[in-house]
Parts: sequence; structure tokens; C-alpha cells
Amino acid sequence: NKPGVLEMQVSGRAIVGTSSAEDYPLQKKRRSLELLRTIAHLRSRTNALGAAFRVRHHLNFACHEFFHKRGFFHVASPILTAADCEGTGELFRVTTLEPGKQDLSQDFFGKEAFLAVSGQLNAEAYALSHSKVYTFGPTFRAENSNTSRHLSEFWMIEPEVAFANLNDNMDLAQSFLQHIFRYALEHCPEDLELFDKFIHPGVIKRLEEALVPFERITYTEAIKILNSSNKKFTFPHNWGDSLQSEHERYLCEEHFKKPCIVTDYPATFKAFYMRQNDDGKTVAAMDVLIPQVGEIIGGSQREERYDLLEKKIADGGLSTKTLQWYLDLRRFGSTPHSGFGVGFERLVQYVTGLENIRDVIPFPRTPGHVDF
Ligand code: 4AD
Ligand code: MG
Repeated sequence: NKPGVLEMQVSGRAIVGTSSAEDYPLQKKRRSLELLRTIAHLRSRTNALGAAFRVRHHLNFACHEFFHKRGFFHVASPILTAADCEGTGELFRVTTLEPGKQDLSQDFFGKEAFLAVSGQLNAEAYALSHSKVYTFGPTFRAENSNTSRHLSEFWMIEPEVAFANLNDNMDLAQSFLQHIFRYALEHCPEDLELFDKFIHPGVIKRLEEALVPFERITYTEAIKILNSSNKKFTFPHNWGDSLQSEHERYLCEEHFKKPCIVTDYPATFKAFYMRQNDDGKTVAAMDVLIPQVGEIIGGSQREERYDLLEKKIADGGLSTKTLQWYLDLRRFGSTPHSGFGVGFERLVQYVTGLENIRDVIPFPRTPGHVDF
């Protein structure tokens, strides 16, 4: 009875698959997202989770499109690795040894192996042959964080660009995010309307308003802002403290009220590969912070100087032997280069307004949960 809608004339019917009406977990009434998580194998049949799934698909495509159109090549970075890229030790070990057997020389690779926490180091190798590359794959972190923003298995997009400095990196990060926001507004209007109506009122306006230049401040400036605010934070925020989620969200949600990029963090809590600044204390790092989500992107200019990098690896207690191939990239024609990593699920969270990261990936893995 709606004009323009297809009408069918039915000439017959057959039952293909039956379902018991009483037991079917998705009755007509509304189910909480929390309850739907316990039936992850059925929840994509609901309006909200179906919409999240479709938006995820479109954003996935938009990522590849963004890089392809700008002359980037995709690198299939390995999932089985020997290196702990972020140096945080939150690794899933991969072994074929019987439980209780410890002799690593008898293990499958003859040494320790892990699931990759990042594809960055491998992407760097290809940036130094093809200038502009990116990875987009699953990454794994055994961090025991039961939050609405952490998964044990998540997808990360990691561009890496030769001859780019930190400013170029920030420009690329902003263009990338805004391309994704625009793409979603253009290609997923109906699903976004559903989110705007039932999940997160204002989510469409928020995407439209994020199409302006992001605020850019240094870590030192961020600390000053936190110290002069009247807000009571749980965690300390003196120079040298790492920024906690509450600090990050205050900066973008309350202070700037838009995405902001924080740069030049103290070297002490950042990864070994980040380029040391001339002050000797800070590194050319950047985090992009967005409302609701907090950190969506982490990146840096990379240390391209062999001696400094070798020292950072050793000082960080990492193995120069395991990372010799990475050091070689500085030995054979080094160049300044930069890159970053985008948490894909956090991106889908921001676009849909879904509060919990477990609702934007079909089958979430979190501490204690590897069902379905
Ligand atoms: O800041 P991170 O740890 O940076 C890296 O892994 C670098 N190697 C990236 C690079 O420079 N190529 O992680 C990057 C992003 C974070 O900003 C966050 O959005 C996401 O990955 N992320 C997670 N998303 C979901 N669950 C987790 N446990 C995540 N850990 C990081
Ligand atoms: Mg980070």
C-alpha cells in the first residue's frame, strides 16, 4: 500500500526451515544489546545489529578505497610473528608443543612465536620500497582490559609513508577519518538514521560536525589544560604521566568539543620505534582523540637513525637479534617515514554511536570469551 514499493502476487508457498515460535530467542519485543551478545549467532537478524554489520562493511570498503585512490599499496602483513611490536608484552603465544613441554628448539618455528599485535614493522619494510603502503588485518592483544573499547582480537588499518614527517602524518589521519565519515553519511543514510533514532541521538550531526580541521596540541599543552580545569580526575595528570581515557575524553568531549590530535609525548611510555625529538625527552608521537571513543588512532614519525634505534631497542629490553631485519631498514637506505594505526572497531563505534565495542564486530573476543 506504499506507492513505489514492490508488490507480489503469491501463487504458492513452501516451508524451507522451521522454527519453534515459543523457543525462538528473537521475539518481537525489543531485546537489550547486552542480551543479544549472548546470542551472537542470531543477533545479526535484528535491526540494530544488522545495521551495524552493514555499516562495518561499507566502512571496510571505504578504507581500501581511500588508500587505493591515493596510490597506496596494500601489504598483507603476517599474523604469526616473532616480534612484540608495541613492546608491551601483551602477546598471545603460538605453539605446537604439548602442554608442560618447554624446549623451544622443539617448537614449530624453533623459537617463540606470537599472534601479531600490529603489522607496522612489516609495513615499514614495504614503505621503503613502495613509498605509500597500508595494512588492514586482524591484530591480537592479550591485555586484560574489560572495557567498552577493548577487544582481544580487533582489526587495524596501518598506513606507512616514506618521506613523511609528523605533520604529514596528522594531515593524512585527518583526511582518512573525514573520508570515512563522509562515506558513511553518503552511503549508509538509512542505517545511520536508525542509530540516530534508537541508539545514539545526534550521531549524524556529530559526523557532519567532525568535518572541520581537528585541534592539534602537544602533550605538554594537554597537561596544562588538564591541570587548569576544575574537573576531578581519578588518575594523576602531571607531566610524565600517561593520559588515561578520562583525560583523553575530557580534552575532545568537553574542552575542544571535536576531534583533537595530541603530539610529542614523553618517550618513557611510548614504543621504541618512535622518533626522538631534539629535546631528548619527547618523541614524535601522535594520538587522535575523538568524543565517546577516546583514542582512535596512535601513530608516529619513526626513528630512522640506526644508532638511536639500536639503543632504544636495547634499552627497552628487546632483542636486537630478533629485530636485526628491522634495523637493516636503517642500514640500507634509510629515510624519514611515518605512519599510524586506526582501530577499525572504534571507528565503527564512532560512526554508529554504539557504546560497546562488542556490538560492532560479529563475534567479539574479550577476556574469558571465545564462544561462537
Ligand atoms: O596505539 P596502538 O597500540 O598503535 C599501534 O599498534 C601502532 N603499531 C600503530 C602504527 O603506528 N602503525 O594501536 C592503534 C589503535 C589504537 O589507537 C586503537 O584505536 C586501536 O588500535 N586499539 C584497539 N582497539 C580495540 N581493542 C584493543 N584492545 C585495541 N588496542 C588498540
Ligand atoms: Mg596507542
